[in-house]
Amino acid sequence: MKALRGDLLDFTAAPAWGDTASAAVRWRPDHWLLVGDEGRIAAVQPEEPPPGIPREDHRGRLLLPGFIDTHVHSPQLDVVASYGTELLDWLQRYTFPSETAWADPAVAQTGSERFLDALLAHGTTAAAVFPTVHKVSAEALFQAASARGMRVIGGKVLMDRHAPPGLTDDVPGARRDCEDLIHRWHGRGRNAYAVTVRFAPTSTPSQLAMAGELARADPTLYMQTHVAENRDELRWVAELFPQARSYLAVYADAGLLHRRSLLAHGIWLDDADRTALGAVGATLVHCPDSNLFLGSGLFGWRAAEAAGAHVTLASDVGGGTRLCLLRTLADAYRVQALAGERLTAWCALHAVTRGAAVALQLEQEIGALEPGCVADLCAWDWSAGLVDAHRVPLARDLHEKVFAWLQLADERHLAATWVAGVPRYRRSPS
Ligand code: GUN
Ligand code: ZN
Repeated sequence: MKALRGDLLDFTAAPAWGDTASAAVRWRPDHWLLVGDEGRIAAVQPEEPPPGIPREDHRGRLLLPGFIDTHVHSPQLDVVASYGTELLDWLQRYTFPSETAWADPAVAQTGSERFLDALLAHGTTAAAVFPTVHKVSAEALFQAASARGMRVIGGKVLMDRHAPPGLTDDVPGARRDCEDLIHRWHGRGRNAYAVTVRFAPTSTPSQLAMAGELARADPTLYMQTHVAENRDELRWVAELFPQARSYLAVYADAGLLHRRSLLAHGIWLDDADRTALGAVGATLVHCPDSNLFLGSGLFGWRAAEAAGAHVTLASDVGGGTRLCLLRTLADAYRVQALAGERLTAWCALHAVTRGAAVALQLEQEIGALEPGCVADLCAWDWSAGLVDAHRVPLARDLHEKVFAWLQLADERHLAATWVAGVPRYRRSPS
């Protein structure tokens, strides 16, 4: 048993859009969180625990559930912040060439370790990850995640056309690799497998059909891909799949649209697409940093939610430039502001904690500071500079304070990260 003291903030339900005084917010200032030896939260209480229990005092800091990044690419730290392109050129010029290096197991291993340590240093304890087309890149991801005890969803990327040599597979080989990876990693520890179609243009119809067969064979598998991110991409998909009603329909027709589907972007969808997503309760993963950086477009959060789809938030590094999901939340606010909508601090924080956990059907395990959940959490400073130290204390209520904090804060505010109760990141003393 160990005890952590701080100001606890999490959610018991989904906050309603625009409600700054939401009853779904659970604010427990100056509480103790007790972690059992098996790494789960044992209790949360205002009383100091009995002597003899080791403790850490984070009084005056926010204790939040570890953030959940529902779409991020492990090899793309190599190309993050690359100048001057939209999606299709960005893939050709920067991303595809750099991903070929991950065929080397040593590159995949050191890269996966660096990537997961970077997530932890940004307050992210769980993620849905795209490695590369190479089987060893998925192996390396699951191995590095297991060594850190992290909850990771991932899978070998499927792509059998329209990519350089060294970055494509074929249907029989890809099926074998997926089946073997599923057998060895899905449900092992905190790893889960996602059938990972990169995007429709880089898979032949027969590869999509194979991916659909895998998905149908085991409904506990996730599926992750990209959809309707960029207008040139949309035109290309229409040329490649003339029989499909829409880009999303390419996936639906292959049997890849279900409750555990995570579809990144979804900027250029129509109402029929949104209805199809809502009908199965799939997840649209909004990546505002990436969408702004690559000039892809502005996501319609409210329309997606109104149709019944889950909406989560993600960094999409390296299309996105920051692993810190606080920066993603700040970008999400700006994207909604351009549509005349207002994203509350509660909706934003919920989307990277409990909301993501619900979308992933993992709410018994992650996303909340609730007895029984795994103790994945972070201690955050309210300020790290002159401006936030001045502004945040001027707030007149909790929403104003948390909103100002999340607009101003970043990874420099992160003091410590625990995974299953084990400290996995601590800011070095300055
Ligand atoms: N579409 C296909 N591949 C990618 C990728 O790596 N990043 C982004 N943002 N979109 C994609
Ligand atoms: Zn992506």
